[in-house]
Amino acid sequence: GNGYFTYDPGFVSTAACESKITYIDGDKGVLLHGGYPIEQLAEQSDYLETCYLLLYGALPNATQKETFVNKVRMHTMVNDQMSTFFKGFRRDAHPMAIMCGVVGALSAFYHDSLDITDEKHREISAIRLIAKMPTLAAMTYKYTIGQPFMYPQNHLSYAENFLHMMFGNPCEQDKVNPVLAKAMDKIFLLHADHEQNASTSTVRLAGSTGANPFACISAGIAALWGPSHGGANEAVLDMLNEIGDASRIDEFVAKAKDKDDPFRLMGFGHRVYKNFDPRAKVMKQAADEVLAELGLENDPLLIIAKRLEQIALEDEYFIERKLYPNVDFYSGIILKAIGIPTSMFTVIFALGRTPGWIAHWNEMISGSYRIGRPRQLYTGPAQRDFVPLDKR
Ligand code: SDX
Repeated sequence: GNGYFTYDPGFVSTAACESKITYIDGDKGVLLHGGYPIEQLAEQSDYLETCYLLLYGALPNATQKETFVNKVRMHTMVNDQMSTFFKGFRRDAHPMAIMCGVVGALSAFYHDSLDITDEKHREISAIRLIAKMPTLAAMTYKYTIGQPFMYPQNHLSYAENFLHMMFGNPCEQDKVNPVLAKAMDKIFLLHADHEQNASTSTVRLAGSTGANPFACISAGIAALWGPSHGGANEAVLDMLNEIGDASRIDEFVAKAKDKDDPFRLMGFGHRVYKNFDPRAKVMKQAADEVLAELGLENDPLLIIAKRLEQIALEDEYFIERKLYPNVDFYSGIILKAIGIPTSMFTVIFALGRTPGWIAHWNEMISGSYRIGRPRQLYTGPAQRDFVPLDKR
């Protein structure tokens, strides 16, 4: 080939970019956004404020926060043509399949987004994406259950609005439970960014070609869908349901350890965290609080989850490989308690991750960057002469 390069499958030891947005120390279990620990943000900030932090690199003052929240509010509706677009999907489509399509389709509505060299255009695209994701996510759900789409209500908070569009219907005055809205906001916040994970790296790679932000985020949604990444939250709940009873946990732990069996304990392990995932700790506490508030402490799935965590943490196989519960392990339990159907879990992750994706895209486009173009080790046949069809 031409020149030398390193061989690093899975990018285990290759930094692909510089970034100021998020810092992770995987050995210590530290996660900082703009320098602020995730535990403090989860406790004292809220989702939209954290979005601001990711996009602008600093916490907003009161006026900046109000202006930002109002800007997001102004953009919650989607073009009415969108409702026709949804109708092309089967009702039983997986919500992530619909999301890949409808988010990508936003590029067809906002032609100004195609000029990515203009900072103002990039900013408005970021605001539009953050504002419209809850609307599109809720429309996806409503479409799959055959209920009419609900319009956003801009007097509600971001999380309340999402729950209103998910669970409200035109026949009833719905009232959003503030406890559930707070938990929802925390889930969004805990997913907001995680530096160069597979989906964010996908957004950056797509963005490095100069593609528009809606197309890039749609690529990120596709990458997030897989069970090794964001799809794990849905897979965790499927797994807990399949285990069904605490007496069967040992059997599943044995399967996960068996190298001839492709089964893995969903919600365990992480490429970077080799101590614990700090988000999982916050999530676990939030799960306890929400279930207590709703009187669901004895939820059988929660009991299985806790027992499974305990057994795995004491097992040599998991200790040796430093496999701890990750963010997806406890989020599903809270989402289930809130009433979110399992097939929507990964959509919630996508919604929460949108500011991270767009902040990384914007950071790349505003700085100096080159098209992403990995190399390969060729292992195919050496050069040979073409054989005519009648000689094969
Ligand atoms: C997310 O990267 C991010 O930041 C992602 C994320 C984000 O916010 O963006 O944090 C979100 O994607 C969380 C991860 C969700 N995925 C899962 O919960 C699925 C289950 N976990 C795994 O498949 C796995 O642990 C990964 C994908 C998370 C990490 O994969 P790596 O880094 O490539 O690690 P590996 O597969 O090489 O595992 C190392 C060893 C292997 O054993 P040995 O061959 O060395 O004997 O650990 C074993 C693996 O077989 N292993 C597991 C396991 N995870 C790893 N064994 C059993 N159960 C598991 N879950």
